[in-house]
Amino acid sequence: MFETLPRVPDDPILGISAAFKRDTTPLKVDLGVGVYKDDQGNTPVPAAVRRAEAEIIAAQKTKTYLTPVGNPGFNAQVAELVAGTDLAGRKGDWATAQAPGGSGALRLGAELLRLSSPGSKIHVSDPTWANHVPLLGSAGFQLERYPYYSATRHAVEFERMLAHLEALPASAVVLLHACCHNPTGQDLGMTQWEAIADVCARRGLLPFVDIAYQGLGDDLERDAASIRLIARQVPEMLVAVSCSKNFGLYRERTGLLMVLTSSTERAAIATGQLGRLARTIWSMPPDHGAALVDRVLSQPELRRSWSDELATMAARINGLRQLLADALVARTHGTDFSWITRQRGMFSRLDLTPAMVDTLREQHHVYCAPDGRINIAGVSAGNVGHVAASVAAVLGYA
Ligand code: LMR
Repeated sequence: MFETLPRVPDDPILGISAAFKRDTTPLKVDLGVGVYKDDQGNTPVPAAVRRAEAEIIAAQKTKTYLTPVGNPGFNAQVAELVAGTDLAGRKGDWATAQAPGGSGALRLGAELLRLSSPGSKIHVSDPTWANHVPLLGSAGFQLERYPYYSATRHAVEFERMLAHLEALPASAVVLLHACCHNPTGQDLGMTQWEAIADVCARRGLLPFVDIAYQGLGDDLERDAASIRLIARQVPEMLVAVSCSKNFGLYRERTGLLMVLTSSTERAAIATGQLGRLARTIWSMPPDHGAALVDRVLSQPELRRSWSDELATMAARINGLRQLLADALVARTHGTDFSWITRQRGMFSRLDLTPAMVDTLREQHHVYCAPDGRINIAGVSAGNVGHVAASVAAVLGYA
């Protein structure tokens, strides 16, 4: 039976990690998958998360089931972290469901949309995270792209984006990156977010906001400001939250789907639907990561330690942006790379063709995504010279 299965090509992002592991050269640099790294190239578990883990393991007497919508403490804490303590003025109107990672939250959101508006299309930014398309597409949705990033100007094509959204039919779903746009690192400014919220409200578009890097761009508040602004203007929205990067919980698969509905009664109905959908896919989400996040956010001392460490991580990434931009300018006869310092989060996208990306990997042992996306956190004081010289070489600078 299985002989009919075709071979699957490498995942555009996870395939890089596999190729990197196979490379035995000490010079190699991994700028592939979006994980935070410290100066030694390690991906640490934040101290507060480790403490919460020790405390939970010491106190936990049972691992019996929770519910299909997960750990209520986690759901409430993360919803507040994202939408603010007043949940953007609509406290009773949110339904939440814990999900296995941000990807699980996106998928659960898509399943809910399939029930509520099966004819809608999901519109994603051009470009968007490589996994958005298969992830949402395999939930049965047709995906279309709206203009977002100008690779020549290294800036958002805002006028074109807005004009495109203005022309969408009511109830079109618009997938937005709250902060730290993946793969470009190019975010919208607050005035631009105001215009996006306005067009969504006026045209009856449904915003579906992906927030996977809260705290790793500017700070916890500013990175979530877009969501709070939109929530004040539109009757309904979806938010998919990932705790992988900001809590260092990658493999624990810890995420949340938030659904803003038009009333408290609708929120209760949506919660029921989310529980039923979860039950039919994964029955219930894994608890460990969620229990850790709940503890970190609910214990003031742990919360302070975590947010301080997160701020240090963000500052380090932003410092690396400057370091890399300076090193690139120095090796490319003064070419402008200041756009790297204006972008936020883990990623920027270098102007590399797929062939250049192959050369970078094969001849210089620098690994990045096929579209030229680099994980800035993979740069370090120790490797920035090699990275910049290699990029300059493939770009044709002597
Ligand atoms: C990335 O974009 O590199 C991360 O979100 C990891 C992933 O799952 O692709």
